[in-house]
Amino acid sequence: MRILVIGSGGREHAICWRLAQSATVTKIFCAPGNGGTSNVATNIPLSVRAIPELAQFAQEEQIDLTIVGPEEPLSLGIVDYFDERGLPIFGPSKQAAQLESSKSFAKEIMLAAGVRTARGQVFESLQEAEEYVRLHGAPIVIKADGLAAGKGVVVAGSIEEALLALRDFMGSKTLGSAGSRVVIEECLHGAEASVIAVVSGDTVRPFVVSQDYKRLLDDNKGPNTGGMGAISPTPVLSEARLQECIDEIFLPTIRELRKRGVEYTGFLYAGAMVQPDGAISVLEFNCRLGDPETQVLMMRMESDLAALLRDALAGGLREAELKFKGDAAVCIVLASEGYPGKVRDGVSITGVTPATSDAVVFHAGTSSDAGRLLSSGGRILCVTAQGESVKTAAQRAYQIAEKVTLPGGQYRRDIGGGAA
Ligand code: AMP
Ligand code: GLY
Repeated sequence: MRILVIGSGGREHAICWRLAQSATVTKIFCAPGNGGTSNVATNIPLSVRAIPELAQFAQEEQIDLTIVGPEEPLSLGIVDYFDERGLPIFGPSKQAAQLESSKSFAKEIMLAAGVRTARGQVFESLQEAEEYVRLHGAPIVIKADGLAAGKGVVVAGSIEEALLALRDFMGSKTLGSAGSRVVIEECLHGAEASVIAVVSGDTVRPFVVSQDYKRLLDDNKGPNTGGMGAISPTPVLSEARLQECIDEIFLPTIRELRKRGVEYTGFLYAGAMVQPDGAISVLEFNCRLGDPETQVLMMRMESDLAALLRDALAGGLREAELKFKGDAAVCIVLASEGYPGKVRDGVSITGVTPATSDAVVFHAGTSSDAGRLLSSGGRILCVTAQGESVKTAAQRAYQIAEKVTLPGGQYRRDIGGGAA
């Protein structure tokens, strides 16, 4: 198979790395890719938003399967565009991708489907939203309806903080049109896990459970980020509960979509809050693989990713092989100085250990310039290692991370229990 992977982050590097080991894959392109994907794929300088150009490339290069990494092209309708032209692509349609691109849509579907989620309400008037916050008090969660690259959720500890978020989103429009509608919901407590499945028709095949570390600093302090690390498995949610997730989250959701004339094909990611009483509530849906969860999932995956997705598209997901190693995997994200705020690009990176079959430094934001590796963006490298347990995997990942020189760079010391 000739494959096109769309995206340029650590997730896409991990996907390309896994595909490169697949017996059914003969050629991998990545658009636009990064300094790491160029080691395992051919980078194509096309933006993830350049849908007609990507389709033309897929046609000319006789691509057998296109895999979409990020949410933006999905929300712009890349799958519909490819489908209309008979180009095989794995991902949800624009309508189905609203599960991620519109939080009010996702809330409506969950409530109609009986999926457990935080109680909430949708607002388009700033004044009514403010009144609701004053009435319900804090803590309370404010979510911009549209895609906001991880900046659209404020877990407000006080009424003032909630009102400030509402004024930012709805008044000053700091997120553009993404914030003109908001979902306000109750604040849930517990621990979070990421449950990601391949979905096609009525078939849901879950991956092993993973966990993302969303806060910037150790002990889950500091601002929210795109994710500073990941582990799999996680003590937060055991594999034994996956069937419950399928029956109570995934199947009701895709059946509710179908009632509205929308079929779901693609990855579906449920951000799950495991509450103190053990109940699992859905915080959000994503219509793609997680980042950095993908890095640990690809490291643990034993079966052929390309064959799995090809079979899923052909209606054969139920019989397709999907196997994971018993070993654990841990990913540590090395980020630029200033992340998640303003960062400076072009910082020289050295000390990156070459990849082996069970430890890889995935690139998230890098470019190469005349053989030199340079930073580009907030999250730069994702050091990922396998081990018999999360603890040993973490120790290995930290040993590799410590060898990297990224001036001003930062990473958490407590992923998977840390280096000790
Ligand atoms: P989301 O993009 O909806 O996953 O929100 C980003 C993060 O905000 C989540 O990973 C949680 O840490 C937090 N969050 C979202 N919704 C809630 C909620 N209802 N209660 C508590 N925390 C939440
Ligand atoms: N790691 C969280 C996400 O991919 O949305």
